[in-house]
Amino acid sequence: MLESEKFKNMQNRKCYAYIIAGVVFQTIIILVFALTVMRIKTPSVRLRAVTVQNLHYNASATSPYFNMTLIAEIAVKNKNFGHFRFDNSTASVTYGGTTVGDGELLKGRTSARKTKRVNVTMDVSSNGFSDSTELSNELNSGILRLSSQANLRGKVTLMKVMKKRKTTKMNCTMSVDLDSSIVQILNCK
Ligand SMILES: *[C@@H]1O[C@H](CO)[C@@H](O)[C@H](O)[C@H]1NC(C)=O
Ligand SMILES: *[C@@H]1O[C@H](CO)[C@@H](O)[C@H](O)[C@H]1NC(C)=O
Ligand SMILES: *[C@@H]1O[C@H](CO)[C@@H](O)[C@H](O)[C@H]1NC(C)=O
Ligand SMILES: *[C@@H]1O[C@H](CO)[C@@H](O)[C@H](O)[C@H]1NC(C)=O
Ligand SMILES: *[C@@H]1O[C@H](CO)[C@@H](O)[C@H](O)[C@H]1NC(C)=O
Repeated sequence: MLESEKFKNMQNRKCYAYIIAGVVFQTIIILVFALTVMRIKTPSVRLRAVTVQNLHYNASATSPYFNMTLIAEIAVKNKNFGHFRFDNSTASVTYGGTTVGDGELLKGRTSARKTKRVNVTMDVSSNGFSDSTELSNELNSGILRLSSQANLRGKVTLMKVMKKRKTTKMNCTMSVDLDSSIVQILNCK
């Protein structure tokens, strides 16, 4: 073999090595991209704060009742690298498993990696709750334990073209202090 051919061979091998290294590097970049930026995560919905208005109640054993208006600030958190657009939905309030009120959560849009806050007004009344012994005991305790749920249906859009449907659920519990009309404990899943 001539010296010049040997040299050419070495050059070629070096060239292949560079190409392979380049392909491996690109594959890693694409993988990292696919696992972080392109991975679609489910947005979360939580109650941030709840204000109680017009609270009326009577803890009498014979005909106990409560009614009030709750103004709930709901946070829709979107960790994706693209916006989340959600449809109109209903947020409901339950007491002891019975629905005692609801309100409309209007459609909206949370930008990429942002949290959108919306206010929902919910009218609540114990009319549909029939166990008066339990209700009377609860109201006499001074603390009313309510839950609130919502199902948000929407779409996450990545890079303006990739769209994926995502449904996210809110499930929170709160304790209303009847004396002060203040929500003391607020927990969301
Ligand atoms: C609560 O209800 C009882 C029995 O229905 C009634 O006698 C009482 O006056 C009511 N209390 C208030 C503050 O409305
Ligand atoms: C709440 O209860 C009070 C007392 O019974 C009643 O006067 C009022 O109309 C009720 N409010 C609503 C919104 O039902
Ligand atoms: C969402 O709710 C608003 C207010 O109730 C209504 O005007 C609108 O038509 C609803 N949009 C859809 C897509 O249902
Ligand atoms: C929701 O209502 C509360 C109390 O009225 C207010 O402080 C807050 O700014 C409102 N938030 C939004 C997003 O409108
Ligand atoms: C909400 O969470 C409670 C537990 O804290 C659970 O019992 C209930 O089934 C949940 N509701 C929904 C609608 O997921």
